[in-house]
Amino acid sequence: MSVAPADEPRLACVIGWPAKHSRSPLIHRHWLKQYGIAGDYRIEEVAPEDFETFLTGLTDNGYVGCNVTVPHKLAAYRLVARRDDTAEALGAVNTVWYENGELNGANTDVHGFLASLDAGAPGWDADLARAVVLGAGGAARGIVHGLISRGVTRIDVVNRTAGRTAALVDDFGPAVAGHGWAGLQGVLEGARLLVNTTSLGMAGAPPLDVDLAPLAADAVVTDIVYVPLETGLIASARKRSLATVDGLGMLLHQAVPGFERWFGVRPQVTDELRAILVADI
Ligand code: ATR
Repeated sequence: MSVAPADEPRLACVIGWPAKHSRSPLIHRHWLKQYGIAGDYRIEEVAPEDFETFLTGLTDNGYVGCNVTVPHKLAAYRLVARRDDTAEALGAVNTVWYENGELNGANTDVHGFLASLDAGAPGWDADLARAVVLGAGGAARGIVHGLISRGVTRIDVVNRTAGRTAALVDDFGPAVAGHGWAGLQGVLEGARLLVNTTSLGMAGAPPLDVDLAPLAADAVVTDIVYVPLETGLIASARKRSLATVDGLGMLLHQAVPGFERWFGVRPQVTDELRAILVADI
């Protein structure tokens, strides 16, 4: 039996390389305390060459499940026995649990992104015909998938490396159009959702400098970067009185399904939890 009896403390972890700066323990430990559940959530730094052994021996190390972060999400996808539809569509797993003694995997980043938008900008998807996504990496793939699942019919992806944009367009079909950065201002014209998935604007990375004037007046601007919490993009949007959703919500909401799988309670993303994370940024 892979899941510990309810009276025994349950352990979960995040596996990454590196992982020591992960904020996930703050989130899960807060919920464990809030819901009075005996258990812990730890950080496991595991090198790529050791990942398979670690993941397939997860229960031997006392864990009921785990999160998987960079660079292990694709390997986790390959190693689990079953995956949810989102993981299947993206080829990446970030949440692992046991079912009938076998490893199961999900991708909860898409849920995190959509739930964060739903909470921070209710109604954002009403009549939303066109969105602009900056970046074409792993995060952009999840977000494009999520936007299509919510009925967005046109997504303009802007990215530096044309080959990555082309791969994304190939994978997601006619709803997605690719552009280089030179095409940015043109595609912003009248758009109602702008999402930054690049690392630009993150502390230590180059800034993201975008003129937001062409966006629709009721546009929502969101950034997956949350260090700093108010990125240059979010600050520019606020100056223009556009609706904004910062990146912390996605981190908080993506943690919900994993906690529920491992500990049996669907946890709430509260202002109190958010404040704990904000204090740590
Ligand atoms: P993630 O999984 O978070 O998406 P990633 O796959 O490494 O991470 O993707 C990072 C994204 O940020 C990419 O879109 C990358 O652009 P390229 O595909 O051209 O590499 C973008 N990015 C990172 N640094 C950048 C920079 N200095 N200028 C422009 N784009 C940058």
